[in-house]
Amino acid sequence: MTATNLEVLFTPADFDVLGKRDLSDTTCVVFDVLRATSSIVTALSQGARSVKPVLTIEEALDMRAAHPEVLLAGERDGLRIEGNLSNNVTFDFGNSPREFLDRPLTGRTIVITTTNGTRALRACANAQRILVSCFLNLDRTAGALANNPPAKLLVICSGTFEEAAYEDTLAAGALCDRLWKSYDGHASDSALMSRKLWLQESSLLEQALREARNGRRLLTRPALAEDVAFCARLNVFPLVAEMDSTRGITLKS
Ligand code: MLT
Repeated sequence: MTATNLEVLFTPADFDVLGKRDLSDTTCVVFDVLRATSSIVTALSQGARSVKPVLTIEEALDMRAAHPEVLLAGERDGLRIEGNLSNNVTFDFGNSPREFLDRPLTGRTIVITTTNGTRALRACANAQRILVSCFLNLDRTAGALANNPPAKLLVICSGTFEEAAYEDTLAAGALCDRLWKSYDGHASDSALMSRKLWLQESSLLEQALREARNGRRLLTRPALAEDVAFCARLNVFPLVAEMDSTRGITLKS
């Protein structure tokens, strides 16, 4: 059997394994549609210079101590990190992408810690190239890969807690669909599965996100419910977001 060149990882259980894989010749695309990568892409669309994902609240506070000008963003249990979790430091933003539309961000660096998305991003930090995507910038991400399709493309779904997430699987499928011609015959079954699911759901994307576990959770919280529709929009921020070797995510021109 020859190895496949297009693969989708569905669950956080795969993150640990990623650390043991040689990713030096692999391009990764990370999705956390609800909501970390949607927030990161939105922040970059509003002029943020860089978004740095960190695993823990402590790591974020250390970065603020070293660089007082950075803005802090993130959630625990879906809600903005408040002083009781962070040594009395209230974070500037939660993890709602809509929050990043309301404040001037030009030139600012944002440090973000979330439950799954930042874990996924850090898990593939040793890859040759790491793109950060969601529905909001899907086609630009696909376009950046289509011109010169990487020999190995690994699509990473951030998931929900320790489980697969429907919305990330759909986004992975949408990306696989857009690149299918380049990998047909060399795609893993996980890529095939996610693509077929996307083709089935693509015409009613917002509805699909509302049915997902993460979508249902957000819909029960009035302040966060609109995030579901916000994140279900395709290509409203036509940009490519890439994480570099310093683990900063910036716009790729
Ligand atoms: C995560 O990173 O786990 C999610 O973005 C959580 C959330 O939507 O708040």
